[in-house]
Amino acid sequence: MKRAIVTLTVNGDRHSAAVDPNTTLAELLRDHLRLTGTKQGCGTGDCGACTVLPDGRAVNSCLTLALECEGAEVTTIEGIALSGAELHPVQRSFIAHGATQCGYCTPGMVVSAVDLLERNPAPTEAEIRHALAGNLCRCTGYTKIVEAIEAVGAGEVEG
Ligand code: FES
Ligand code: FES
Repeated sequence: MKRAIVTLTVNGDRHSAAVDPNTTLAELLRDHLRLTGTKQGCGTGDCGACTVLPDGRAVNSCLTLALECEGAEVTTIEGIALSGAELHPVQRSFIAHGATQCGYCTPGMVVSAVDLLERNPAPTEAEIRHALAGNLCRCTGYTKIVEAIEAVGAGEVEG
């Protein structure tokens, strides 16, 4: 398979990589750029563990070709923190509410929550559950996850 160069910005850093036409964005992030915070779960678009934000829009990176992201500005879980070690309010709220168990779904959940709150800063419980419909938690920790996001929307977590 003939490789091609893709150039994109990830968490503010510009990268170029030679990828196969069928290399996914998840593979590019994890295998080429070593950004392993993005998890590969199902690989078929069913679990949301691989959720990232190319140009501010949440997608399943396992279903997105790396070459489709030419010129994109991608934010992954590694870039969600506000600056340096200062966690994003969603991350702090997940910790405060005990909204993680094994943690495998957590990066995708946090990225989806950040995407939701960008579009809808004070979502209802129903809106949160709808927004997370594509994110599966094998540990079934949904109640705490939803509570953590509700708390951010309610302004209970300082930004
Ligand atoms: S790994 Fe992408 S949706 Fe499951
Ligand atoms: S915390 Fe284990 S999969 Fe969600």
